Amino acid sequence: MSALTPLRQIKSYVIRQGRISRAQQEALTELFAYYASKQTAKTSFEQLFSTSQELVVEIGFGMGAALLQHAQQYPHLNFIGIEVHPPGIGTLLNLIHKHHLNNLHIIQGDATLALEQQCPDQSLARVNIFFPDPWPKQRHHKRRLLQPEFVRLLTQKLKPQGYIHLATDWADYAHHIERVFAQAPNLKKTSIERGDRPQTKFEQKGLAQGHRVFDFIYTKTN
Ligand SMILES: C[S@@+](CC[C@H](N)C(=O)[O-])C[C@H]1O[C@@H](n2cnc3c(N)ncnc32)[C@H](O)[C@@H]1O
Repeated sequence: MSALTPLRQIKSYVIRQGRISRAQQEALTELFAYYASKQTAKTSFEQLFSTSQELVVEIGFGMGAALLQHAQQYPHLNFIGIEVHPPGIGTLLNLIHKHHLNNLHIIQGDATLALEQQCPDQSLARVNIFFPDPWPKQRHHKRRLLQPEFVRLLTQKLKPQGYIHLATDWADYAHHIERVFAQAPNLKKTSIERGDRPQTKFEQKGLAQGHRVFDFIYTKTN
């Protein structure tokens, strides 16, 4: 675990004060302590579970549909979802509770800080980032999550042969991803198939607008 200084000050998200349903609010009040924690330098990812199974992280899980499905599909893996958006966290808390899952923990906070402060190096089997905010305007491109220094951080946290699965429905972001990852040492593009990626809310929106979906899997080579 490394420095306490954030990698960068530009945020890849905006915390919207949007509508939160009663069920989401109740989940945040009643279930948060059981299935989630706020981002903190004090607890390492491995301490979040009673079992020592391999770790998978999903960054920006939105309403949590893909994460829920993966946690159910792979009970022999431990999943950590990192998100800043309270309504989505509330929704996923209710789903974890309903399905009695003990291999899924939510961290509320910025993924860069969580990785820097809570994630041991070479500890992750897989990282999923599905439909990151596209920040389509040129002047906002610097806010895109997938920047060279963030990719370096991801690589540092992956185990050898661990991999990153990315998806986007923005052609321009797909090209940006290819450019950034082409420069990343120790990562090799190993697939452009969706594989086991479940459909997400943002994917549905993109498809409804006629967007093409791009998937990329980059595997750590050593
Ligand atoms: C466009 S949404 C996609 C949500 C979901 N993956 C889907 O496909 O429906 C991107 C999500 O990433 C989250 N996000 C962006 N930057 C983040 C960061 N640095 N740490 C944690 N979550 C982040 C946002 O709050 C938002 O919910």
